[in-house]
Amino acid sequence: MLQELSLNVLDIVSNSIRAGANLIEITVEVDRERDSLTIEINDNGCGMTKEQLAMVEDPFYTTRTTRKIGLGVPFFKMAALGTGGSFHISSAPKAGTKVSASFILSHIDRMPLGDINSTIHTLITMNTQIDFVYTYKFDNKQFVLDTRQFREILGDIPLDNPEVSAYIKEYLEENKNGTDDGYQI
Ligand SMILES: Nc1ncnc2c1ncn2[C@@H]1O[C@H](COP(=O)(O)OP(=O)(O)OP(=O)(O)O)[C@@H](O)[C@H]1O
Ligand SMILES: [Mg+2]
Repeated sequence: MLQELSLNVLDIVSNSIRAGANLIEITVEVDRERDSLTIEINDNGCGMTKEQLAMVEDPFYTTRTTRKIGLGVPFFKMAALGTGGSFHISSAPKAGTKVSASFILSHIDRMPLGDINSTIHTLITMNTQIDFVYTYKFDNKQFVLDTRQFREILGDIPLDNPEVSAYIKEYLEENKNGTDDGYQI
């Protein structure tokens, strides 16, 4: 079982990558007043039919078929519902997929967010052909990392260039700290 929500994000985004997405938006939103943590992943990959979608959402469906159905989505869903939160997927063939999980921030069973910066950094530097838009919101502050803007400035220098990679890591750390003042989530 995954211990940190950032690892669930890695898993859900891996689905988007396997679905052939070239633009993936990841939003993490903490709202202390609403006592909520919301994570959204939006991709422009191949999407799913209604039938596929129904299977993905139901972890028990697996046991009745010979087909292997993974646990990435059911784990994420369970983690959210276990806190009294909510979970939604919408998807359409050729249009892409949107996964949204809401957690009650203060719930005792809510898994920690974990090292979300590492997850985002790994995704960007290991998938240099894909664009990512990462938005981090904390109460009424937010920052956005859009790899398309980085590319515009960098030209032919790839996002996994060691100096660029180090810069992205620092960019994430500085901006996260500037947004949440190092609040433990
Ligand atoms: N973003 C997506 N776009 C298209 N299809 C998706 C997407 N996310 C999930 N799917 C489909 O749903 C299936 C189940 O996803 P899930 O993450 O639960 O398991 P998995 O990826 O097959 O295996 P695991 O995550 O356990 O390695 C995927 O195999 C894929 O067919
Ligand atoms: Mg998966």
